[in-house]
Amino acid sequence: RPPTSQIEEVAILKGSNCRAKGAAPGFKVAVLGASGGIGQPLSLLMKMNPLVSVLHLYDVVNTPGVTADISHMNTGAVVRGFLGQPQLESALTGMDLVIIPAGIPRKPGMTRDDLFNINAGIVRTLCEGIAKCCPNAIVNVISNPVNSTVPIAAEVFKKAGTYDPKRLLGVTTLDVVRANTFVGEVLGLDPRDVNVPVVGGHAGVTILPLLSQVNPPCSFTSEEISYLTSRIQNGGTEVVEAKAGAGSATLSMAYAAAKFADACLRGLRGDAGIVECSYIASQVTELPFFASKVRLGRAGVEEVLPLGPLNEFERAGLEKAQGELAESIRKGVAFANK
Ligand code: NAI
Repeated sequence: RPPTSQIEEVAILKGSNCRAKGAAPGFKVAVLGASGGIGQPLSLLMKMNPLVSVLHLYDVVNTPGVTADISHMNTGAVVRGFLGQPQLESALTGMDLVIIPAGIPRKPGMTRDDLFNINAGIVRTLCEGIAKCCPNAIVNVISNPVNSTVPIAAEVFKKAGTYDPKRLLGVTTLDVVRANTFVGEVLGLDPRDVNVPVVGGHAGVTILPLLSQVNPPCSFTSEEISYLTSRIQNGGTEVVEAKAGAGSATLSMAYAAAKFADACLRGLRGDAGIVECSYIASQVTELPFFASKVRLGRAGVEEVLPLGPLNEFERAGLEKAQGELAESIRKGVAFANK
């Protein structure tokens, strides 16, 4: 047993350093932007995930406090905090999964693209660290605009010679979570029993709920389709406006990100039949990146599933989404290569 003075020091500086006895071996996960509105509840949820054995919390502010706090939870994962750029490499070394919710959120009147100038640089720097310290990690990108930050990450990894499209995933789970909730309300079903594929991207008209493919099979009036499509596409703005300047979705986002990260970890473990929607490198359309259902496994994205039959309304939506997505992808690639 280490001396108590040493345990105390570790607890204060780094958080818990004691693996729970008898805990199953698990995965090493880093959260980059761990002190933020999403980062804090997401870190809490990852500390509760039994598949996580080591949890690294990195941010440019406040990680000692967040780490000390979360480390007191009596769950299995060892928690360590890392503060500021000089500690980025230590935060990333040896990680299996890196989740990135770092960056500024929207305020009322802003689009996700308005965040580009600041968040593009943050994502680039963090991905340079990933390429150097954990090139084989699965990367979950949450920072907006996801439609551009995922292409930026891809370019950074290409330059470093570490790019594997199977391991780079943009997190669009919140769109699916919202769609399941809103469709559940309309149909009078428990939202946990509803599954709505949401494809395209993660901003405005690029968010395409496929209401013709809802599980359990159901039908909607054209009024319901237009209400649901608009509410799902504008769910983020609904929260931004309700928060009135205090940021964007954080709690539902942390839930969605934790759900998606758990699916990635179960895939890494080798579980079968894990299907989630994600914005990834894709050949489903002529665009180089597109969100659709993917099957997750030991290598990350094991299979990109086809879109399935679309109705006329969805085909028109897809047409509109493609134009905006193409421009967001172009902008991301240009930024990374300038
Ligand atoms: P926040 O401002 O509350 O937290 C962001 C955190 O990132 C802060 O703690 C900040 O210190 C940190 N940060 C800034 N620069 C950093 C750097 N270079 N390295 C590490 N950490 C850094 O923002 P919030 O609400 O947590 O949102 C984070 C991002 O997630 C935003 O870009 C937001 O638009 C996006 N988002 C994405 C969603 C999605 O569905 N993919 C949904 C909701 C938000």
